[in-house]
Formats: sequence, C-alpha cells, structure tokens
Amino acid sequence: MLEILCLLGVFICLLFMPLPPLLLFLVAVCTLPAIYMAAQNAPFLPFPRKNLQAIFCYLQENHKLKDKHFVDLGCGDGRVLQLASQAQLKASGYEISFLTYLLAKFVTRKDPNISIFLQDFWKVDFQQCDIIYTFAQKKPMLKFAKEVWPNLKSQTVVISAAFRMHGVKPDHIGDGYFVYIKP
Ligand SMILES: C[S@@+](CC[C@H](N)C(=O)[O-])C[C@H]1O[C@@H](n2cnc3c(N)ncnc32)[C@H](O)[C@@H]1O
Repeated sequence: MLEILCLLGVFICLLFMPLPPLLLFLVAVCTLPAIYMAAQNAPFLPFPRKNLQAIFCYLQENHKLKDKHFVDLGCGDGRVLQLASQAQLKASGYEISFLTYLLAKFVTRKDPNISIFLQDFWKVDFQQCDIIYTFAQKKPMLKFAKEVWPNLKSQTVVISAAFRMHGVKPDHIGDGYFVYIKP
C-alpha cells in the first residue's frame, strides 16, 4: 500500500513536469507494473488499537506468555509486535512490502525482542511458533486453513483478526477476533 501511494505520487508529479512524451511513456511503463504488483498483496491496513488491546488482554489472562514465540503474518508497521514484546513475548514479523518492512524495522529498531523479516509468510516454517497472529482477508484465511493449520504443532494458538478460519471452530471469539488452539 505504501508503495502504491509513493509510486502514484511520483507518477502524478511527473505528469505535471514538462517532460518529453517519450520519457513520460517510459515512466508509465516502469511505474504501472510496480503499482499492480503492490496491489496484488493484501494492503497494509492496521487493525484497530482497541481490538489489539483486547487480544493481548485475552492472551495475558488465558495463556502463559513469557518467552513464547509470537509471529505476525504480514506485520505492517510493527505495532502488533511492539504490543507482543510488551507482553514479554519473543516477537517475529514477516512483511512482503519493502517500504512497509523498512517502516517496521525503523519503528521497532530499539527493541531486541523483535525480529522483522522481508519475506513471504507462506514460505515460513511455523513449527517453532507458539502464537500466530494474522489480519488477513477471506482468501488468505482459506489458504491458511488448508495449508498451514493442519501442520501446526499441538497447542499453537492462532489469532485471526476480523476473519474466521473456514471449517475450524474457534475456541474463543473476542471483540473483532477469533482464537483457535491446535488440538
Ligand atoms: C492488513 S495488514 C496487517 C498489518 C498488521 N499485522 C496489523 O494487524 O495491524 C496486512 C500486511 O500483510 C502484508 N502481507 C500480505 N501478504 C503477505 C505475504 N504473503 N507475506 C508477508 N507479508 C504479507 C501486507 O504487505 C500488509 O502489510
């Protein structure tokens, strides 16, 4: 999403500059595919802070958290990881958008409990994770239920913000989020 805004900004600025038409055409040819590629990934939309606080209250009241491994699939600006670190979790985030990744690295730079990777989360091995948080849309949640959920270790906690995991009964439904515990 950040990429889309930046590229659109560059594109609009260039439109108002007195550039030769051939150069403008070249800029368009180079910019539009990048905008299209960025739009293919779920855009960066932060989950509301009030609901995030409800999630961490639930976790603190119902699970042992100290030194457990928390993973945010598509960590956006890293806010969720900061809350996880405050709850004494070891927090890792995966982010596919380069600019958003840089933002998250900057925001969390002083916290040694937080690691952020520029990586497609579908290629991650979740065997070492204790708590997985995701704010993904319906389609990725279908893929998660089919490809990731069956291979998680027993007792892994999955928190899905806003969207249910298809075909799996939640163990807890909170304020805008669903919790699943792998049997
Ligand atoms: C809806 S935002 C959620 C941000 C944050 N986790 C939150 O809950 O506030 C989804 C994020 O996932 C990232 N994303 C989408 N697909 C991804 C993938 N396959 N691998 C890594 N990150 C991805 C997007 O770039 C975006 O920043």
